Amino acid sequence: MKGIILHGGHGTRLRPLTHTGPKQLLPIANKPMSEYCLNTLKDAGVSEIAIIIGGIASNKVQEYYGNGKKFGVNITYVLQDEPLGIAHAINLCKNFINNDKFIVFLGDNIIKKDILNYRKEFEKSEFDASILLCEVDNPSQFGIAVLNVDGSIKKIMEKPKEPPTNLAVTGIYFLTPKIFDIISRLKPSWRNELEITDALQMLLEEGNKIGYYMITDYWKDTGTPNDIIHANKVILENMESYFKGIKEEDVTIEGNLMVGENTIIKKGCKIIGPVIIGKNCIIGPNAIIGKNTSIGDNSEISKCHIEDSIIMNGCKIKSEIKIKNSIIAFNSEIDQSNSEEKVFLLGEGTKISL
Ligand code: DAU
Repeated sequence: MKGIILHGGHGTRLRPLTHTGPKQLLPIANKPMSEYCLNTLKDAGVSEIAIIIGGIASNKVQEYYGNGKKFGVNITYVLQDEPLGIAHAINLCKNFINNDKFIVFLGDNIIKKDILNYRKEFEKSEFDASILLCEVDNPSQFGIAVLNVDGSIKKIMEKPKEPPTNLAVTGIYFLTPKIFDIISRLKPSWRNELEITDALQMLLEEGNKIGYYMITDYWKDTGTPNDIIHANKVILENMESYFKGIKEEDVTIEGNLMVGENTIIKKGCKIIGPVIIGKNCIIGPNAIIGKNTSIGDNSEISKCHIEDSIIMNGCKIKSEIKIKNSIIAFNSEIDQSNSEEKVFLLGEGTKISL
């Protein structure tokens, strides 16, 4: 079975973080969020993967994943000139998929569960598609499924204003080549996109059967900064400790800590896990790195207190401040100001709460 990862789109809801690259490359626990999708596919035995690219700096996706060898898969890149919808992106992969059943994974969806058994069941099944459903508190923001009394799928709709159920259609779709004929007959939605939910609904209306599995542990569509911070927490909570760096004396460590090569934790630091720190970092002296924090490679952090936050590669934070629920992008610097006056050099769309 082949797989498709959607890595296009404009990521507008995550600006300014997405001004310089695709949202699916934003790191969660120091790995691009789409790498979790790739690993979930790989663990399900899917090694032929097409990645849909498009939008700002999509070359960064190719630079990171290359031909896929480093990640144990073969990658084919498919360019989508404009984000004209999930179904549009899938249709671009018609030749790649050929005549087999396949799995589509939205590159901004994170799940904890492996999908090997779902894949095996779908392969044997008579279903023309199968979806993963998850109960949510905010159903109007997702595709929604309505079930018949016998539990089968009755209807699928995209972001209804008044959702009849709280069963979100997650961004992991098990499909057959039948979908290509359906997509060729789809009309764009109000947001001018070919919607996968409309394609699935048309599949149902034409007498085909759609199966489903329920996700009961964890699923996140990382659409907003808070979603990313939450996914970071959940991934960190499930990681096992390792320490490849150097620790000076008078350092306190509680909870799970993952530290990369050549990272120095200097005296007077307190680290309360789960925390991941990349390689070649200098932490401290006198920094407090609190729970649910990821610090990327080549960063220098001192004096401050950080928790529930993502600090990307190459950041320098050397100021007596407390940072919480924050995402700080690659190579940013926060320095100590010696006067009451603060000095800023902010990129377009930056958000600061003082
Ligand atoms: O996350 C699940 C939800 O994803 C589903 O419940 C919805 O039914 C489905 O429409 C989708 O909703 P979103 O509005 O969240 O989709 P978004 O525009 O964020 O795109 C999802 C991913 O696909 C994202 O990683 C960007 C990528 N994408 C999107 C479009 C529209 C592309 O690669 N190309 C595209 O044309």
